[in-house]
Amino acid sequence: MGSGLSAAGPVSSPFSPIMADQKERTFIAIKPDGVQRGLIGEIIKRFEQKGFKLVAMKMVHPCQDLLQQHYADLKEKPFFPSLIEYMSSGPVVAMVWEGKGAVKTGRVMLGETDPANSKPGTIRGDFCIVVDRNIIHGSDSVESAKKEISLWFKDDELVLYTPCAHAWLY
Ligand code: RTP
Ligand code: MG
Repeated sequence: MGSGLSAAGPVSSPFSPIMADQKERTFIAIKPDGVQRGLIGEIIKRFEQKGFKLVAMKMVHPCQDLLQQHYADLKEKPFFPSLIEYMSSGPVVAMVWEGKGAVKTGRVMLGETDPANSKPGTIRGDFCIVVDRNIIHGSDSVESAKKEISLWFKDDELVLYTPCAHAWLY
């Protein structure tokens, strides 16, 4: 009694509400400069080591139309045209990572928008110098993540892990 176990096994089943927050998803993209500089493996390693689950990944050379939708909130910014040019300059690695706090923790792992303000230990803090070549994108809210995931991926490109008796191990 009080052990967290019942005769049938763990009290928390794979379908209990406790699992819901572990299903949070974020959209992460390694930008063209990150790809060209050979940082794909390093970046994936950090998310994997942290304990997030990779549920989708593809390499894609994005068209300007897709990027204009992706960065629609920034369309009035003076740097918008150069941002679209930068992001469409080569292939990017688009990914969906899942796990508790994936959006917020993902942003912490990225560092600040301007690498000059990013602490060592963060991706931008460790691998880049200037804001217009900051190697990686991460969703800034759960809401944005949902929009971005549906913009970049079809539903059937997201892996459905077979439900099993055990929660994802962190
Ligand atoms: P991202 O969306 O790419 O993850 O970046 P973020 O949230 O940290 O920053 P955001 O404000 O959404 O800006 C998107 C990207 O635009 C470029 N940028 N350039 N020249 C500039 O002042 C400037 N400011 C932003 C960066 O590539 C930034 O990541
Ligand atoms: Mg942003």
